[in-house]
Amino acid sequence: MVKINKDYLNLQGSYLFSEIAKKVNAYAQANPDKEIIRLGIGDVTRPLPPAVISSLHSAVDEMGRAETFRGYAPDLGYEFLRNAIAENDFIKRGCNIAADEIFVSDGAKSDSGNIQEIFGKDNVVAVCDPVYPVYVDTNVMAGRSGKYDCEKGGFEKIVYMPCTSENGFAPEFPKTVPDLIYLCFPNNPTGATIEKDVLQEWVDYANKNGSVIIYDAAYEAYISDQNVPHSIYECEGARECAIELHSFSKNAGFTGLRLGYTVIPKDLVREGVKLHSLWARRHGTKYNGAPYIVQRAGEAVYSKAGQAEIKETINYYMRNAAYILDGLKKAGYTVSGGVNAPYIWLKTPEGLTSWEFFDRLLTKANVVGTPGVGFGAHGEGYFRLTAFGNYEATVKAVDRIVKL
Ligand code: MLT
Repeated sequence: MVKINKDYLNLQGSYLFSEIAKKVNAYAQANPDKEIIRLGIGDVTRPLPPAVISSLHSAVDEMGRAETFRGYAPDLGYEFLRNAIAENDFIKRGCNIAADEIFVSDGAKSDSGNIQEIFGKDNVVAVCDPVYPVYVDTNVMAGRSGKYDCEKGGFEKIVYMPCTSENGFAPEFPKTVPDLIYLCFPNNPTGATIEKDVLQEWVDYANKNGSVIIYDAAYEAYISDQNVPHSIYECEGARECAIELHSFSKNAGFTGLRLGYTVIPKDLVREGVKLHSLWARRHGTKYNGAPYIVQRAGEAVYSKAGQAEIKETINYYMRNAAYILDGLKKAGYTVSGGVNAPYIWLKTPEGLTSWEFFDRLLTKANVVGTPGVGFGAHGEGYFRLTAFGNYEATVKAVDRIVKL
């Protein structure tokens, strides 16, 4: 008789964004006359940049001719893309990362969920609280979490690093030294950032303790402050302790196209083994690579036109962020984020729980956001709005919230 993976039974509820979608769909069906504005999931709304579209078209044409047709992609990704990434995202920023330390994938969500596979089951995992749920849930599935503790509002074996208004939504070193540390900056969900000297302290901490940092840089394109690092490899010693995840979703609108990459420097060695070799082995065994046409589209993001076009889109979203921040502040809400990040984190009014506020917003203003508690116990009493919407709809949503 087959046995199931019982670790899955420790998962709590359904995946956050699936649960929200279910609630919103039920409301929409019951109220077909209402115009619902969705500022919940961080999904982009602007079309792909023209440089990307043009590259997609020519790559599709190549696939239709015998002499330029491509089958399986190289294990770690096409060199034309890995070279463009190494040059633009790292070398130009003074980070010492080579093209062969970059693994192209179908996105940062899969990589952030899969990366834990190369680590032993008995590692202690630390996450920020609130946190992007994928880091926690995939470690639950892998059997690293223990049971859910309702009183603690988290899993027994996971180390939670509270990110609150008192610490500026930045984690502090935990009392128990963890083996694996997940950090995401600019942060999802709070929109907080940390400066380079603070990130350097985390790198020093990881190197001192033999920990590994999994650094999710999916939102780095939204950074405008000079002293906020775009990559952990801007810090000294990061090559010995950090893995970095990147996405083409948020900077270039690839949520529906799917492309991302992971960096594992060859200097990252634990128990005498290069983590690069383990991930390469995993990648080669389980993955046949992002499609050729999508990797060509990714290459186009780094072209001169591509760079100018994605900047324009980012500015568009950041205009939304500024409108939300400003509008809610003026209306007396306590808000943060939204300056170097496309997420706005607000305190729910009148002591409402996150889900109570979600219901109020959905039913009274027909606006969808994300309840902070869905990201962890310390998100209770908070709420996330995304700047990825259409500008006119965002303005309308804020005006409706302000009038509540
Ligand atoms: C979010 O809303 O937190 C993100 O869109 C989720 C993701 O990127 O997978």
